[in-house]
Amino acid sequence: DEQKLKKYYIGSIDQGTTSTRFIIFDGIGQPVAQHQIEFSQKYPQPGWHEHDPREIIKSIEECIEVAVEDFVELGHEISDIRAVGITNQRETTVVWDSNTGEPLYNAIVWSDTRTSALVRTLKSKEGADELLNITGLPLSTYPSSVKLLWLLEHVDPVKKAYEEGRLTFGTIDAWILYNLNGGKEKDLVVTDATNASRTMLMNLHTVEYDAKLLDFFGLDGKKLRLPKIVPSSSAHEFGHFAYGPLEGTRIAGCLGDQSAALVGQQAFTPGSAKNTYGTGCFLLYNVGEKPVISKHGLLATVGYHFGGKREPVYALEGSIAVAGSGVKFLMDNLGFISHSNKISDLAATVEDSGGCVFVTAFSGLFAPYWIDDARGTIFGITQYTEQGHIARATLEATCFQTKAILDAMEKDSGHKLTELAVDGGMSSSDLCMQTQANIIGIPVNRPAMRETTALGAAIAAGFAVDVWKEFDELKEINQKDRVIFEPNITPEQSAKMFKRWTRAVEMCRGWVD
Ligand code: G3P
Repeated sequence: DEQKLKKYYIGSIDQGTTSTRFIIFDGIGQPVAQHQIEFSQKYPQPGWHEHDPREIIKSIEECIEVAVEDFVELGHEISDIRAVGITNQRETTVVWDSNTGEPLYNAIVWSDTRTSALVRTLKSKEGADELLNITGLPLSTYPSSVKLLWLLEHVDPVKKAYEEGRLTFGTIDAWILYNLNGGKEKDLVVTDATNASRTMLMNLHTVEYDAKLLDFFGLDGKKLRLPKIVPSSSAHEFGHFAYGPLEGTRIAGCLGDQSAALVGQQAFTPGSAKNTYGTGCFLLYNVGEKPVISKHGLLATVGYHFGGKREPVYALEGSIAVAGSGVKFLMDNLGFISHSNKISDLAATVEDSGGCVFVTAFSGLFAPYWIDDARGTIFGITQYTEQGHIARATLEATCFQTKAILDAMEKDSGHKLTELAVDGGMSSSDLCMQTQANIIGIPVNRPAMRETTALGAAIAAGFAVDVWKEFDELKEINQKDRVIFEPNITPEQSAKMFKRWTRAVEMCRGWVD
């Protein structure tokens, strides 16, 4: 019952692209204590994007320290935290020395496009046609495998470690789990099925690494240590904190952030979906226990895998590389605003985008277009154009791509979504969510508590330690005070806007030599 559940606490590490947070939830899904910090983004060359793997771990340690301190100050005991879940930016690739635990290069971030030329070569290789069916992913700069190949080709210490059989590869979840468990001491190298499904080394149908894929990418499984793939919710696979205020606490959940948001929004029935506006924006649509391979530019991925007798649940995904990062660009690079939450105010200074369309293809265009050589382009500028128009066009870019993704999803699934559940930073903008409803022509449904990603990881951990046993027990969580945005323009107006976007997409191709 509610009073009893309130006393169960679960921690959640949410390690995203631009910030890390640690949130402690109670058993009815309310955040009790939390801390968030931003960490460095490294852009050493155009199209390159890196993180310092050590800084990521430090940011987690700091968030835990502060949030736990607040939790204790509120009168709770650390031992009241029954388990911790982890959720993370996906695809971002870390390589470390198996003997020392030291990273051998910066993490290459999911949005990094340094592999474009490599991807072009791989596309013409025999076997490339089969990749989509095996992995659910189109060959692009996005998955981890191509980032790993780049590291092996260009970074001598990585090459050497591989040749000597002491190279460990991991996505961010594996790197975090390895470190929190004590690194080399414990040597725990695991990943969950949702994260593994983004590497392009995992067979989506068997949820195991596939020799055919390793072969295609020219990787020798004997020279390379890959994390063991386990379910997203497990009391025994993810180990325990080896140090710090949570020393001894069990880690019991692990999911890629978009999967965690799917769980946090409780999109447990086939046909339900969510759209998360973070650094990028990712729409996941639950397709049930059999993967659906897209014919229209979407990704097939593991939605979540709760283990035990439960089969993995799959999703169709529409990935948009730029959402909040577009707003950050207006703030950091163009100086339009002093804080990202001011974007709505700036956009509200004008009625519409004044004829501007901003294709925010900083990392090429992802779903459903997959145009690696597109770059950010603003069309329709005149002397009338003000900052407000460009602010609107920036928000609209994510909304238009969401519309293109929903169209593709309808074609793949034969099912039209009747409402879109949303969350993530940019969903706090009423103006953006109203625009979104107008462009897709269906209501947009926003929860009061928008930390859905962190909540999803807490749910995965809570299931593993029996705080909850059935999805039904969660149904009250985060349901109060949801806001529904109804479309308020005509379908003709909306179609006209979208047509202009589609033209702009066609015109931004081929920008990279
Ligand atoms: O696939 C990349 C994704 O997981 C990043 O999520 O929320 O950091 O944009 P986010």
